[in-house]
This record gives sequence, structure tokens and C-alpha cells, in this order.
Amino acid sequence: MSEVNAVRPVIRIGGVQKIYRMGDNTVAALRGVDLTVLPGEFIAVMGTSGSGKSTLMNILGCLDVPSEGSYHLDGVRVDGMSRNQLADLRNQKLGFVFQGFNLLARTSAVDNVELPLLYDRTGKKRDTRAHAVAALERVGLGGRIDHHPSELSGGQQQRVAIARALVTSPTLLLADEPTGNLDSRTTVEVMALFQELNEQGITILLVTHEPEVAQYAKRIVVVRDGRIVRDHPVVDRRRAADDLAAMDVAAEAEAAGHDVQEAA
Ligand SMILES: Nc1ncnc2c1ncn2[C@@H]1O[C@H](COP(=O)(O)OP(=O)(O)OP(=O)(O)O)[C@@H](O)[C@H]1O
Ligand SMILES: [Mg+2]
Repeated sequence: MSEVNAVRPVIRIGGVQKIYRMGDNTVAALRGVDLTVLPGEFIAVMGTSGSGKSTLMNILGCLDVPSEGSYHLDGVRVDGMSRNQLADLRNQKLGFVFQGFNLLARTSAVDNVELPLLYDRTGKKRDTRAHAVAALERVGLGGRIDHHPSELSGGQQQRVAIARALVTSPTLLLADEPTGNLDSRTTVEVMALFQELNEQGITILLVTHEPEVAQYAKRIVVVRDGRIVRDHPVVDRRRAADDLAAMDVAAEAEAAGHDVQEAA
């Protein structure tokens, strides 16, 4: 196989360790992790609390640096970069979605989404507002651009956060428990959006505790005690759009049942 024709991985880490030092104690949060992620993948990272998922995501997201090991992001060697270089790389290549949405409360949806473009020091994107509006339209919130977070449902707030992650056209979307604060229907709605974005070519890595959520991904990586212990494709992958349609049918049937009862 020739290297030249091989697909360039979005992520390639090798032997990554993360040791936290706290006084005399050390915590080995990651103990030698190898992971390669190719363009177009959709990976769910699972594992019990404290297994190292967020530590891994923070390193992949260039929010933290490994104690040992190598990291290439989209072909660029990341380990050893300065803080400023990491910040630029984050802005150019990565989009983040968090459990708590992390939107600015006193700021409209469109202003929240525009923010990463205003931080972009390369100044590549002109007409930042138009890009922000387009990103909100892409997540189905074109009609809510002037709403503040408190005027939106949890699912809508998370979609604003996803629009904010998308507005810079990232290579990779990283999401740490993005459905952790959502009810079950809204969870499926957000997963339908992730699946749609993935079909449009965005590579996605998300952390979840919920096996049902992981079934919407294409590949599941299980972390335990700072190591990857399982890594397998998703069999019988679910389509969130189909699940939403089935929920609607069930809700209609139930409503019709009530009508029949009331008429009797
Ligand atoms: N900043 C830190 N300083 C010291 N120890 C830390 C720090 N961050 C995480 N740890 C420790 O590293 C280990 C892995 O933590 P991590 O947050 O990655 O777990 P997680 O898998 O995301 O868990 P959860 O599912 O609860 O979010 C834990 O033992 C945690 O206590
Ligand atoms: Mg975590």
C-alpha cells in the first residue's frame, strides 16, 4: 500500500498518556491510548465514570496536552505546539458541543453562533453574521435567530450550540455528553441532526453514557481505566429520523385512542 494514496486520518494518536499530579499523588487518567479516526467516521466513546473519556476528548480537542505520546490532527503534529498554536488549530479545525450547551445567556442565538468567527485571527470569514444565520438555518433554527437561550427549549439550545460548533466549517466535531441534559425525544432529535451532519461529511466523536445513543454512531470505542478496551463497528445501526417518525406514529395512535375513549 502506498502512503501517498492512503486516506489521511483526521486523528491519529499513539501511546497517549495523561498523568495528573496533585501534590504527592498522581492520577493516571490515560495509560497508553492508540486511536485512528478516518474522515466521515461517527464514533461514540463509552465507559464508566472516571474511565478517562473527557480527558481523552480534551486532548483530542487541543484543550489539554498529553503527558506522553503523539498526536496528529488532520496531518498536523499537535504534541509540542504552543498554547497559541493550539488555540489557532482549535479555531480552524474543531467544533465543540458540551452537555451544558455553554451559551452566553444575555446574547441572542445568532450572536452566540457568530462568536467563534469573531475570534478567528486569520480573518478568513467575512460577513460573519451571514455565516451565523446560515449555520442556524442548517440546524433548523432559521426562525429563532434573535431568541435568547432562556427563550429556547433545551433541544433548541443544544442546536444553537451545534450551529456555533459548525460555523467555522470544522474538520471534526467533538461532543462530550451532548444529550446528557435532554429528554428522550429531544435526544433523538439531536442525534438525527448529528447523523445528518455526518452524512454531509462531518467527522464526529461523541461521548455518551447511553447505549441507545451510541447505536446512532457507526463505531463504538469503550474506555476503561484509561485504556481502550473495545473498539467495534455498530451492528444494527439505528436511524434517528426513523425513530422520530415511529414516535410520532405512536403519539398519534395514543391520541386517537383517547378520542375513541372519550367518544364512548
Ligand atoms: N484536572 C484533573 N486533575 C486531577 N485528576 C483529574 C483531572 N481531570 C480528571 N482527573 C481524573 O482522571 C480520571 C479520568 O477523568 P475523566 O474526567 O476523563 O473521566 P470521564 O470518563 O469523563 O468520567 P465521567 O463519565 O464522570 O465524565 C478520573 O479519575 C479523574 O478523577
Ligand atoms: Mg466526562
